[in-house]
Amino acid sequence: MTKSIEKLRAHIKKYSYYETMAALLSWDQHTYMPVKSTENRAEVAAEITELALTLLLSEETGDLIESAEQETLEEQDRDFLTIVKREYRDKKKVPQDLQVRMAKESTRAYEAWKQAKINNNFNEFEPMLKIITDLQREEAQCRGYETEPYDALLDKFERDMKAAEVDDIIEKLKPRLLELVSELEKGKKPRRLETGETFPIHKQQELNKEILKLMGFDFDAGNLSLSPHPFTASIAPQDVRVTTRYRENDPIYTIFPTIHEGGHALYELGVPPEKQVFIENLAASFGIHESQSRFWENMVGRSLEFWKFFFPTLTAIFPVFKNVNYETLWRSVNIVEPSLIRTSADELTYNFHIMLRFELERGMINGDIETSDLPGLWNEKMKSYLDIQPPNHSDGVLQDMHWAVGLYGYFPTYMLGNLYAAQLYNKMKQDIGDIDASILSGRFEELLQWMRREVHVHGSLYGPREVLEKATGEKLNIDYFMQYAGEKFRRVYDL
Ligand code: CO
Repeated sequence: MTKSIEKLRAHIKKYSYYETMAALLSWDQHTYMPVKSTENRAEVAAEITELALTLLLSEETGDLIESAEQETLEEQDRDFLTIVKREYRDKKKVPQDLQVRMAKESTRAYEAWKQAKINNNFNEFEPMLKIITDLQREEAQCRGYETEPYDALLDKFERDMKAAEVDDIIEKLKPRLLELVSELEKGKKPRRLETGETFPIHKQQELNKEILKLMGFDFDAGNLSLSPHPFTASIAPQDVRVTTRYRENDPIYTIFPTIHEGGHALYELGVPPEKQVFIENLAASFGIHESQSRFWENMVGRSLEFWKFFFPTLTAIFPVFKNVNYETLWRSVNIVEPSLIRTSADELTYNFHIMLRFELERGMINGDIETSDLPGLWNEKMKSYLDIQPPNHSDGVLQDMHWAVGLYGYFPTYMLGNLYAAQLYNKMKQDIGDIDASILSGRFEELLQWMRREVHVHGSLYGPREVLEKATGEKLNIDYFMQYAGEKFRRVYDL
């Protein structure tokens, strides 16, 4: 007789086929889909979501889980069952009808946001945003919470994290960041590089592919394409795709989104096959995911050692950079200054962008802020956190897609990712010794192997707290970020 655990595996495998279809549709929508396909795509995406949920939330799943629990299981099967049970219970909390409505409305809202951003017109987007926000508030009620509705949504992205804890982290982090930023003002500010040339996109693409290969990204298990908002999409266990964007006059700019998404992809590809259960949920949390991208982007990609190592590759493709030395390049990619756009913010002020969004989305979900008040509040908070004013809504409240697609509760994970990354980096240094030497000689596999062993290996079996503690031996400690940032930026600023 076939064991229930085997039947459950087959059943979940089928669900993962729907996940693949949905992921492929979504990847296409965000890369190459013509705009006139929007309505149809919304319908198709909702249909796939419905089919998938019908299968996952069926009585059969519940019965198979129950009887598998009665069986004597090997460790791998027990882990599999733990992962399935968690996802099943999680998805059960939200009525299927609400999940399908969300899938449909978010496809529409995404297109509305895109148009509104082009037209620089918040009012055009606001009705759609209100629909999405209301759906998210409804979802929070279904999921349940102890203290505030926002906690229910935050938990989707960062298991067991509470808004109050994020508050606590911000309260400690903010003054120390402000202090460091003002200390740097006394130092020597690097100059921004401008070559005055244009750099063909296909050449920049070549450079990006070179970098991804160096990091250990497998082009037989993924690809690199273009999208206005870079992202990583897991389509199937051996199909993880990254996107990036380009500026024709600045080939250095594109390197960072590419490394960043490459870091995400390495995590997804590094989860061992036996823990690859749900394609859209392979990781410990979004914060741990972001720690991977930020580690590669900032600790590796913005280090002096990387630029020294990488300089010959860069100048082979773009000889004009021979006029600049690697140290100048390194400094130029580490300028700290308040800016409008989160995704291109420096490592320090980036965290202020998150604090601002956290306050706003928490208010919207908890019912303290109306969507119509957003533009005004956005500009107010930009002034108080960064002392700048967006000249228009496209570079202000409309810059990110997250709220349009219902990703409320996501933003704090970006800040947590920076903090986790620094803590992991610190432990990695203790474990493998001279990381600088590894980077300097391009031995990136040593870094990747450490991440595979300490982080990727768990897949989604454990939550962020457990993974961080297993890897570093302690709870989240912001000292590691401040120590890393202090050392690095004092060096950049000659202090
Ligand atoms: Co990321």
